[in-house]
Amino acid sequence: MNLTDLNNIARAMVAPGKGLLAADESSGTIKKRFDAIGVASTEDNRRDYREMLFRSREAMSQYVSGVILYDETIWQDAKDGTPLVRLIEDAGAIPGIKVDEGTQPLPNCPGELITVGLDKLAERLPKYYERGARFAKWRAVIDIGAGIPSMTAISVNAHALARYAALCQQAQIVPIVEPEVLMDGDHDIDRCVEVTTRVLNKTFQELRVQRVALEGMILKPNMAISGRKSKTQASVGEVAEKTVRMLKNCVPASVPGIAFLSGGQSDEEATAHLDAMNKIGGLPWPLTFSYGRALQAAPQKAWSGKAENVAAGQKAFTHRARMNSLAASGTWTAEQEKAA
Ligand code: 13P
Repeated sequence: MNLTDLNNIARAMVAPGKGLLAADESSGTIKKRFDAIGVASTEDNRRDYREMLFRSREAMSQYVSGVILYDETIWQDAKDGTPLVRLIEDAGAIPGIKVDEGTQPLPNCPGELITVGLDKLAERLPKYYERGARFAKWRAVIDIGAGIPSMTAISVNAHALARYAALCQQAQIVPIVEPEVLMDGDHDIDRCVEVTTRVLNKTFQELRVQRVALEGMILKPNMAISGRKSKTQASVGEVAEKTVRMLKNCVPASVPGIAFLSGGQSDEEATAHLDAMNKIGGLPWPLTFSYGRALQAAPQKAWSGKAENVAAGQKAFTHRARMNSLAASGTWTAEQEKAA
């Protein structure tokens, strides 16, 4: 493992004013997104949609540091035969790859999940590297509900995240370590902080046990946020303040950067929260975005599967990428948001 190179990639992923585009929806998830805009989820439509994003020159060269791809996409070519990874590289962004294979029910833990995909991972990684991937992603899912999460679910998911991270670094690929505490429940923000703190602490404990070099990884956490069904919804200021405090308590300063998931927040909420955190400032790591839905909902709607809407889709994507770029440096304003 060359730690200097891993660290250079990790720092490029969180370069000032830049963040990640999570375009790694699995076949099932992208079908859901396409269903919502009335588009058939065919291989060609998935290619056309992602090609539209990757050919958004301003967004890809100025606001996006890297793109998380799904296995299908990393091997796909654009309509003119250019590999999609090449479009990303040509814009100056870094290709990455989702390597987990989704979740399965966790035995003995009703309602809880374990992320799978470790078998054969050591053999898959060099092929992705050869194709251009310089970072990878693995997402663990922790749900909050009555009697959950169990320590078992937290522990086995943290173990798998660390196993994955160690294998990535051995293959000279920067691991994005993503332990996502879902915002689906009716819990309040303090319960989210309590569970996320346990999850982050256990994850870093496992990373240390398995000798993962913290300088060569990126953390992708959820924010401290109220459950979607909670009667009390924390303000932007409270989300920012509690997230920053939680991360300072749990994440070593040697981690090169933190890139949040959006997790079901609205586009503007995801931007406002990130901006408010960066306005607090004085943090040991850059805080940026690694958004899926909060970057893509608008372009998906504008595109709606029609070739004549490609320019409108790219415009919508560029606007969201620019807003989040401003938020990553704490310089976003509501006026800029409206000046689409
Ligand atoms: P969302 O921003 O839509 O949560 O997606 C980010 C991601 O990569 C989840 O794994």
